[in-house]
Amino acid sequence: MTGVNEIRSAFLDYFAKNDHEVVESGPLVPRNDPTLMFTNAGMVPFKNVFTGLEKRDYSRATTSQKVVRAGGKHNDLDNVGYTARHHTFFEMLGNFSFGDYFKDRAIELAWNLITKEFGLAKDKLLITVYSEDQEAADLWKKIAGLSEDKIIKIPTSDNFWTMGDTGPCGPCSEIFYDHGDHIWGGPPGSPEEDGDRFIEIWNLVFMQYEQTPEARLDLPRPSIDTGMGLERIAAVMQGVHDNYDIDLFKALIGASVNATGVEAEGAARASHRVIADHLRSTSFLIADGVLPSNEGRGYVLRRIMRRGMRHAHLLGASEPLMWKLVPTLIREMGRAYPELGRAEALITETLKLEETRFRKTLERGLGLLDTATEGLSEGGELDGETAFKLYDTYGFPLDLTQDALRARNITVDTDGFDAAMERQKAEARAAWSGSGEAATETVWFALKEKLGATEFLGYDAERAEGVVTALVADGAEVDSLSAGQSGVLIVNQTPFYGESGGQVGDTGTLSASGLKARITDVQKKADGLFVHMLTVDEGTLTRDLAVELTVDHDRRGSVRSNHSATHLLHEALREVLGTHVAQKGSMVTPERLRFDFSHPKPMENDELATVESYANEIVLQNALVETRLMAVDEAIESGATALFGEKYGDEVRVVTMGTALHGDKAGKSYSVELCGGTHVRRTGDIGLVTLVNEGAVAAGVRRIEALTGQAAREYLDQQDKRVRELAGLLKVGAGDVTARVAQLVEDRKRLEKELADAKKKLAMGGGGEGGGAAVKDAGAFKLMARTVEGINPKDLKGMADDAKTQLGSGVVVLINVAEDGKAAIVTAVTKDLTEKVSAVDLVRLGSEALGGRGGGGRPDMAQAGGPDGAKAEAAIAAIEAHLASL
Ligand code: ALA
Repeated sequence: MTGVNEIRSAFLDYFAKNDHEVVESGPLVPRNDPTLMFTNAGMVPFKNVFTGLEKRDYSRATTSQKVVRAGGKHNDLDNVGYTARHHTFFEMLGNFSFGDYFKDRAIELAWNLITKEFGLAKDKLLITVYSEDQEAADLWKKIAGLSEDKIIKIPTSDNFWTMGDTGPCGPCSEIFYDHGDHIWGGPPGSPEEDGDRFIEIWNLVFMQYEQTPEARLDLPRPSIDTGMGLERIAAVMQGVHDNYDIDLFKALIGASVNATGVEAEGAARASHRVIADHLRSTSFLIADGVLPSNEGRGYVLRRIMRRGMRHAHLLGASEPLMWKLVPTLIREMGRAYPELGRAEALITETLKLEETRFRKTLERGLGLLDTATEGLSEGGELDGETAFKLYDTYGFPLDLTQDALRARNITVDTDGFDAAMERQKAEARAAWSGSGEAATETVWFALKEKLGATEFLGYDAERAEGVVTALVADGAEVDSLSAGQSGVLIVNQTPFYGESGGQVGDTGTLSASGLKARITDVQKKADGLFVHMLTVDEGTLTRDLAVELTVDHDRRGSVRSNHSATHLLHEALREVLGTHVAQKGSMVTPERLRFDFSHPKPMENDELATVESYANEIVLQNALVETRLMAVDEAIESGATALFGEKYGDEVRVVTMGTALHGDKAGKSYSVELCGGTHVRRTGDIGLVTLVNEGAVAAGVRRIEALTGQAAREYLDQQDKRVRELAGLLKVGAGDVTARVAQLVEDRKRLEKELADAKKKLAMGGGGEGGGAAVKDAGAFKLMARTVEGINPKDLKGMADDAKTQLGSGVVVLINVAEDGKAAIVTAVTKDLTEKVSAVDLVRLGSEALGGRGGGGRPDMAQAGGPDGAKAEAAIAAIEAHLASL
């Protein structure tokens, strides 16, 4: 029963048997506490339950919580590797009572578990209580039967637990284990307490208060929060003194030894420990959505990774190492934490990438460090300028430099480092303030510099707390915004997406006690500052306030679908039209998506249908949408589609969807794109993709518009309704509508032709025996002249030809008067007469009479027009007179 996995289960089972709800570990990035960098204790996910803000349908819970203590109040990073018990990541086992049981039951449950279930010897156990908490001391005596000398009263903050500067807190009582007199150290409170003999294994906090920035308030009801480091209890139960000797760490260190071929002895021992520990924190952080960056949580992650990588380098690893250990970690911990397995690819690739990139500067940086410290002896100090150069040019986090010098007992001038950093910031400030940006834009630059980039939590969360770091109204910083006012909000972290990459910003709400506001848009400014436009509806919004930010879930859902569908359509277009298709722009809103791309001509109907069908094939695969972080050049090399001319950071998110079904790519990933947007979890979430428009935007650039999900369905419903209405009108089944309409179109053409022929015949005097229009003599010529109505002007020449044939020799004049009263005139002269009279002269005469000018044609056939159709007879008369005069 003593393996880490068994101990964890035994703990949870024990409390489940005692009516506790077994709750899954909360994420390492707390959603409910914007003041915390990482979840640093088991009670963090329950913080608002303790204070009464949040209600759950249980009042007792037990968890094995993932904890990272690197950065923030509880920071153990510097010690990891060099001590027996420090970790950046560990698991905290805990039981919680939310106003249910209190001290007596908590002590009883704890005592029974460790002495009965876990079988620890009573005489190895010691207890501490807060010196003012006589009640706890009495209870220990009564319940555990411990003598007074085993219950030690501690007057310091060691026995008053607080989670941070604010939050639930209370006196606590700790259980210590005596590892034996072969190890140096004394009991807590004694001068030798810092020794390693007496180790704290479990902390029981009697939560009674809530510390706010102003005061310490009573909690609604006394509660219990306990924390037992799984690694420590495992060491005790496995009869080892050192956490790194428990089964789990043996496996991880074994893998590191295997991969490097270096035994975990001597100086190498610390390096293997660092790697094993950092592998855990790194992998769990990545699985919880943190990716390496140069700010905030991402930078803490990067520091941990690089520290681990330097130790891999120390072990002589000539290639990236840490990623190779991921399978061992997943084998050991993946059953308890399935998120590790789900994120395996992301973890592996992120580690590999970071290590590959860092190795490029690591050696040169270490070389510089060696040169700079050559003259220094033990106890010396490295100047801040060099430490800053290592940071700025070689990517050495400050703590990595400190760690590298630790063995030689050399420290770093951190004030000098800070001064160099400040100088660089001042230079950057001078650069942007002189860059002629509009005044409003400089506000964002100044805020970005002061506050750093906003941390975006919205890939995983749609609701999170953030601390108000700045408020802006009318282009200037303000202290507050009250009901009825609109302005801009900046928070340290946000689940709201800021408009970028064609995807619109999120909308939603902000709330805190007595405060309500609507967020109507979010923009990204100054390279990473999320600017929330909002209107306060109730209360007053002030700086430093912790507020809850909630993204409009349905709207975000539609945006996700539309964005993912854009990727699928992009790939489908490339598949159907060819790889010349390149994105020229896109717009993703909750209502629809628009995608512009290079293509020289309009798309054919069957091309559109195929594109739509290919995209929907991937939707139906219901494939997991995978996101990973890659170096830009590597991502593009691997075939990811990037936007030409787009500015990317060094590292980019690469979004992959579906498996290709056709052509050369069959079996490979379908869509692979560089993208910072938010996407569906599985392609099936898109529901359906429907193209609704195709058109031109500019020369060589086409635009398609499409709908997804419910909007697509509604659109198709409309289309369907139309077909059914048509079928009703045509009195055929819906399936026969096309054939019926085709037939109607055909019929109409035929009828139009028949009608035109009939009109022509009628115009020329009908089909009667006279065989034509009135023919008279005009001088030496036979003249056939007519005024007609309702003839298509295009037909006039044909009619004139027919008339010439009928005449054999002579002149034809046809004038058509349209509905609007305008006239068209055609004159024709048979070949034998064109020497004597020209159709062009005749048409000019006619046109003049009709109020027009000119006209044109050849001697045998000419045409013209004129505005005054009422003068048709006069025009004929003029021509007739002219012929008579020849
Ligand atoms: N919250 C307490 C701790 O972390 C149990 O020690």
